[in-house]
Amino acid sequence: MKKNFLFLLAIACSSLLPALQSSADAANPPMLTLDGKTTSITSPDGKVGLSFLLDSEGRPTYSVVFGEETIVRPSTLGFEFKDQEPMLKNFRRVNVDFCQVDSVWQPVWGENSSIENKYNGFTVFLSEKNKQQPRKLNIEFRVYDDGVAFRYLFPDQDVKKFVVADEKSQMRMGGDYKAWWIPGDYDTQEYEYTCTNLSGIRAAMPQALIENVSTTTFSPTAVQTSLMLKTPSGKYVNLHEAALVDYPAMHLNLDEESLTFTSWLTPSPDGTKASFEAPFRTPWRVIMVGDKATDILATDIIYNLNDPCALAETDWIHPVKYMGVWWEMITGKSAWSYCDARDFDLATFDYSKAKPHGHHGANNENVRRYIDFASQNGMDAVLVEGWNVGWEDWFGKQKDYVFDFVTPYPDFDIDALNKYAHDKGIKLIMHHETSASVPNYERHIDAAYDLMNRYGYDAVKSGYVGKMLPDGQNHYSQWAVNHYLDCVRKAADKHIMVNAHEAVRPTGLARTYPNLIGNEAAMGTEYQTMSPEHPTILPFTRLKGGPMDYTPGVFVMDLSKFAPGNQNKKKATIANQLGLYVTMYSPLQMACDFPEHYAAKADAFRFIKDVPVDWSESRYIDAEPGEFIVAARKDKNSDCWYAGGITASQAKDFNLSLDFLKPGCKYEVTIYADAHDANGFTNPEAYVIAKREVDSTVTIPIRMAPAGGFAISFRPIK
Ligand code: NOJ
Ligand code: CA
Repeated sequence: MKKNFLFLLAIACSSLLPALQSSADAANPPMLTLDGKTTSITSPDGKVGLSFLLDSEGRPTYSVVFGEETIVRPSTLGFEFKDQEPMLKNFRRVNVDFCQVDSVWQPVWGENSSIENKYNGFTVFLSEKNKQQPRKLNIEFRVYDDGVAFRYLFPDQDVKKFVVADEKSQMRMGGDYKAWWIPGDYDTQEYEYTCTNLSGIRAAMPQALIENVSTTTFSPTAVQTSLMLKTPSGKYVNLHEAALVDYPAMHLNLDEESLTFTSWLTPSPDGTKASFEAPFRTPWRVIMVGDKATDILATDIIYNLNDPCALAETDWIHPVKYMGVWWEMITGKSAWSYCDARDFDLATFDYSKAKPHGHHGANNENVRRYIDFASQNGMDAVLVEGWNVGWEDWFGKQKDYVFDFVTPYPDFDIDALNKYAHDKGIKLIMHHETSASVPNYERHIDAAYDLMNRYGYDAVKSGYVGKMLPDGQNHYSQWAVNHYLDCVRKAADKHIMVNAHEAVRPTGLARTYPNLIGNEAAMGTEYQTMSPEHPTILPFTRLKGGPMDYTPGVFVMDLSKFAPGNQNKKKATIANQLGLYVTMYSPLQMACDFPEHYAAKADAFRFIKDVPVDWSESRYIDAEPGEFIVAARKDKNSDCWYAGGITASQAKDFNLSLDFLKPGCKYEVTIYADAHDANGFTNPEAYVIAKREVDSTVTIPIRMAPAGGFAISFRPIK
């Protein structure tokens, strides 16, 4: 496939199907060919190709090539509906609109201060054949240098209402690719990744899961996106969706014989998948490709497919580095609740008569301790969980009340603590655990956000632990997806930033709503003992849709040292925990451990103090999912660079070439590395710190321990 920019430029965003059909043969083979049947287009660099045709039965069919390799073999597209004929075949092509875009935009926060959005695309306009009232369906395709995307457009037409029984978007993979996957659960992404070939997914699907959800439409061959894949020839492929708005989240269900994925939408309680009225556009279905693993880490395709920022003002949105009254509850050292449920009258909710159990974390004195340390160490904020009444009896309860999100516990003085924090340059971060009782949250959300405005909270961490209410809803259904976005929009109106846990995994909506500064939507540090492979996979999967509130920074790995009864040991070295601040991009970064643990290792904590949370430039230097990641980033507000690396279970020697630094400039570097005997499993807290001077010609040899890593800061010497 050859490039022909002039040719495409001439037809940019035009409807020239008939003209092209006659002129295409004469021309030098262009980026797009129309032989009357097939429409083909290539990426701006000519390496990624997409072809579309209607097969002999009028089925929309597409395929994708990357260089010499077929990534998606001919795959069909369409829908089944609840009470009308499917839209799968019997189409005729009415028109094709071609489009070429080459633009740049500036995110409010991000890994880079500007993002290139460059693609060639087309929309095919389809209409049903031989029907009295033919329905219309348009499909929009975009081809970027790093992937392909398509979405369905239901134009305004006689039939207005569509109730989707199933979306039938196929991705017929080019081979039995290696895959890093989590099960197609409709309610949680909190799984460790399994790595098998596609043909091995069924055998490796957790048996307990199959048994527990056998009454639903759970499929033992369905996996979640973003799905990371590797072809036998060593190319990297990633399947995800972008701009999930007013539609259920999509998993991918595999037919093992043909190695074909079909979209597998999260059901509504009545078993249907989505309802909408034309005109309507679905989320994008995205196939990212790369020669190197780092290409998948670096691609911005998901953000590019989302709409530009919808907020008129964004100067109130800012990256946040925070500490929290949190790790102590997660590890069991203290509690969210004020008293034990048995010592409390759940009928009256009268805390004046309650007998406190004495280890409530969010008490005035403890919160002030965190504020003091955060303020002395250049943090922006302190999260306080367990500040509000209701934690005595909330977990796993199917009830429609529990929290009101406005009433503090007697030992949490909301007014005084916010004043204390603000005087020290710290914001408190609000916490709304909804216990997945969405109707309850929706009843209280206005008052809850107003309370935040009144006391000066500008960020909320929300959470959806447990089974969704109302009954039969799932965390990723169309209704739930709408709820999460409604909260983000409402929060934007009130200048509140949102970090939602247990909500649907992100699909790049933070471009449109940059007040969505974080999500969890995967296993984070709260799973105290997960494998060291996990954080080397997340940037290839979960992070493709947006940043994660991963909450790194554990400095004391043996949790029994401070949380009696907790026998867990974190499998990570201190240098690994520091490296995460560079490898795991987020504009919201927590230093999750206790003030006293950081004070005891102030030299290592220095990196967490220094590391920025907003970048002008990011380079993924080398990586392999499940093995290691090495990255370097430049601070958005200075000329300092930062590098970081993490390994999984195997140690790794790495030569870090500093060619990303400004040529001719000298830098003072501080290297935080694993000690020679460090080991994330057996000797996790051994680290060394060294300083030296370097320039861009230098290569620094680094040894990362098992479950280890490194972090480096580079300050230009003036
Ligand atoms: C689960 C969240 O992920 C965690 O961070 C939070 O502390 C608990 N829910 C309680 O809300
Ligand atoms: Ca969680």
